Amino acid sequence: MNWRIKPLDAILASAEKKSLARTLGAFQLTMLGVGAVIGTGIFVLTAEAAQKAGPGMMLSFIIAGAVCAVTALCYAELAAMVPVSGSAYTYSYAVLGELVAWVVGWALILEYAVAASAVAVGWSNYFVPLVQHSFDIHIPIYLAKGYFAGGFINLPAVAIATLVISLLVLGTRESATVNAILVCIKVAALVLFIALSLPVVKMENFHPFAPLGALGVGGAAASIFFAYVGFDAVSTAAEETKNPQRNMPIGLIGSLLICTVFYLLVAAGAVGSIGAQPVFDAAGHAFEPGTAEIFNACQNPAKAVTLVCSEEPLAHVLRQLGWDKMSRLIGLAAFLALPSVILMMIFGQTRIFFSMARDRLLPDVLTRIHGRFNTPHVVTLVTGVGVVLAAAFFPVGKLADLSNGGTLAAFFAVALGVMILRKTNPERKRPFRTPFVWVVGPLALIGCVVLFSLLPIFTILVFFCWAAFGLLVYALYGYRRSALATPETKPLTPKLS
Ligand code: ALA
Repeated sequence: MNWRIKPLDAILASAEKKSLARTLGAFQLTMLGVGAVIGTGIFVLTAEAAQKAGPGMMLSFIIAGAVCAVTALCYAELAAMVPVSGSAYTYSYAVLGELVAWVVGWALILEYAVAASAVAVGWSNYFVPLVQHSFDIHIPIYLAKGYFAGGFINLPAVAIATLVISLLVLGTRESATVNAILVCIKVAALVLFIALSLPVVKMENFHPFAPLGALGVGGAAASIFFAYVGFDAVSTAAEETKNPQRNMPIGLIGSLLICTVFYLLVAAGAVGSIGAQPVFDAAGHAFEPGTAEIFNACQNPAKAVTLVCSEEPLAHVLRQLGWDKMSRLIGLAAFLALPSVILMMIFGQTRIFFSMARDRLLPDVLTRIHGRFNTPHVVTLVTGVGVVLAAAFFPVGKLADLSNGGTLAAFFAVALGVMILRKTNPERKRPFRTPFVWVVGPLALIGCVVLFSLLPIFTILVFFCWAAFGLLVYALYGYRRSALATPETKPLTPKLS
């Protein structure tokens, strides 16, 4: 067993020595969070959550949001203390050692790269009907769905992921202005949805509230957790934040709160206006979302109109309510705004790979910077191939669940890390301190474990296979090559502007 720890001071020293101006206030941070968070979760996975929990999915949104809130407070302390790229991977390296850091970095591939694939597939779910309803262009199912989703290849998802990767290689960054515009588009779409659906809510649509019981609500919470993934983008901006002790929690909790309120209102509008009861098979068992069985059952015209059978639920609800043009506007908003979520996810992934390669746990070639574009083009392209392949062949729900598994594992390490550092390194300067850390930290740990255990069993298995594969790679490669194993080899310090 190897518990090599990279000292915090070494991390701070080996990180790029760029001192960023502290320009971000509470408002910008909140916008950053809302921009990274609202995406496929609410626009697409609402239907799958309804299939798992029925109207009780409203509760699922609250549970997932609460777990994120306590973890967010832990994240903020580490992000402000160790303001370098690499996120949970870097924090784990300092606190829990190289082996755990490697496992966390490996899990973060699920959080970021797999999430990027999931959002690309979610985007395709809106794109296909949008071109059909607006231009009468029919994309055949074998080109609009992946092999494991009942088609052959999801070409629109491949196209959007390829476009985003090309932009990243050319050096596109999420600019504050573009982000603000896209946040406005997303929020406007949700407001429009709420304004049109809430007035026609019927109380009887909320009954039965939890047709699949507490386990159904819990399972939906574990899946809809995806809707909140991405708020850690706020914590990684700690170094650029004015008065982080005040603004960081406002940004984190503020963006989570805003998203939760929107999600609840959208869920209430969807459930209350057209109902959200699951589809059952002849034996009375609810179908598992994303499978060929539910897809076939949904071909029945009586079922096709239900929320759970829709692949673009928000647009679908408005169409059912007779708002055809407005429904297309929602599709257009998803079309315009979801790619920025893909961009943020792939950007995050490349920075994590970059940190791992700089520590020599991954090949040096990944740290290569393009001469002209000044971007880490090799790592971006390698990440891109993985993202495109996953988006091409897998269904959105399965990708989102897997991404949640990786995210929960990383969150667990972060919550543990905060508590350990309070004991081992009490005097270190903390620009932000997690309030009530001995309550908030354990709550975050319990929340992550519970949500993880509520993921589908298949997802949990894939997660552990992925982790085992990662350990093998570490044993055969990183363990020997690590910068800490070979102190005579200096860690690489390539410059990224
Ligand atoms: N939270 C992001 C989404 O729902 C990843 O698309």
